[in-house]
Amino acid sequence: MADRFAKISVPVLANEKVAPEHYVTTLGDGEIGRRTRPGQFYQVRLKGHGAPFLPRPFSIFDWSSDALGEVTGFKILYRVVGRGTAALSMLAPGDEVAVTGPLGNTFSIPEPGKRVILAAGGIGIAPFMAFVRASIDKGVSPKDIELAYGARTRSLVVAADAFAALGVDVGFATDDGTLGMRGTTLDLLRERIGAGDADEVVIYASGPTPMLEAVALLCRERGIAGELTLEARMVCGIAVCNSCAIRVISPEDPGGWEYKLVCRDGPVFSAKSLYVE
Ligand SMILES: Cc1cc2nc3c(=O)[nH]c(=O)nc-3n(C[C@H](O)[C@H](O)[C@H](O)COP(=O)(O)OP(=O)(O)OC[C@H]3O[C@@H](n4cnc5c(N)ncnc54)[C@H](O)[C@@H]3O)c2cc1C
Ligand code: FES
Repeated sequence: MADRFAKISVPVLANEKVAPEHYVTTLGDGEIGRRTRPGQFYQVRLKGHGAPFLPRPFSIFDWSSDALGEVTGFKILYRVVGRGTAALSMLAPGDEVAVTGPLGNTFSIPEPGKRVILAAGGIGIAPFMAFVRASIDKGVSPKDIELAYGARTRSLVVAADAFAALGVDVGFATDDGTLGMRGTTLDLLRERIGAGDADEVVIYASGPTPMLEAVALLCRERGIAGELTLEARMVCGIAVCNSCAIRVISPEDPGGWEYKLVCRDGPVFSAKSLYVE
C-alpha cells in the first residue's frame, strides 16, 4: 500500500460547475479512491504559477467509476471562497494536482434500522454523498436516511437530485424561503427530529462551526447520538503544525477541555465531545 502521507500527482478527469460558485472536480486515481472512506479528506495542492503555496483540504464527495463499476478516482465538491478554490475551479481535464490522502478518520456506518438524519449547512453537503453510498452498501436502507439540507437560497442547492435518486428523503431550508422552509438547517433538523424517541435517531452534521456547535448542544439536550465533521484552517494536514487544533471536552474532567487535531483525530468528532463555550 502506498505511503498514506505521500504527495501524488493526480490528473483532473473533469471539472464541472454545478451551481453558482460551486464545482465538482473529478480526480483520476483509482487506488486513492478505493482507499477512501466517507468522512475522510485530501490535501490538494495546485501546481503552477499563481497557485497558493499551501495545499487545501477537501472531503471526498463521491467516487468515480467506469462502465464495469471499477473505481477510477474520486470527486470533490467545493465552493469558491478564495484563491485556492478559484484556481481549482479553473482546471481542465489533463491538468494535474498534488494529492495527499485519504487523511483523517471516518463517519461510522449507522446500525441498520436506526433513523439517520443528515444535517447539511451550505457546502457542508459535500461529505454526505459518499456516506450515503457506503451506508447503503453496508445494508442501511435508504428509507431510513433523511437529509435536512439548508442553504442561503435555492440556486445554491447542489446534488439534491442525486440524494433523492438514491432513495433519501430530502428536506430543504433556505434563508430566503425560495426552497423548503424559511429558516436554517437547525430549524429543519429540530422539525425533523420532532418528539420522537432519541434512541432511534442518529444525526450526522456538516457545515459552518456555529451550526455544528448548535447541533452538538441539541444532541446533548435530547440525548441523541451524533457525529460532526469539523473544519479548521489546515497547513500540513498530517499532524505536524498544530494549526488545526480544536477543543474537545476532557474525558478526565467533564467541565474542562483538551486540544485535538482536526487532521489527525478528526475531522469527525462525536457530538458529545465537542467543547462549546
Ligand atoms: C477536513 C476539511 C474538509 C473540507 N472539505 C471541503 C469540501 O469538501 N468542500 C469545500 O468547499 N470546502 C471544504 N473545506 C474547506 C476548504 O478547505 C476551504 O474552503 C479552502 O481551503 C479555502 O481555500 P481558498 O484558498 O479558496 O480560500 P482562502 O483564501 O484560504 O480563504 C478564503 C476564506 O475562506 C475561509 N476559510 C479558508 N479555509 C477555511 C476552513 N478550512 N474552514 C473555514 N473557513 C475557511 C477563510 O477564513 C477566508 O475567509 C474543508 C476543510 C477541512 C478542514
Ligand atoms: S493541519 Fe497541521 S496539525 Fe493539523
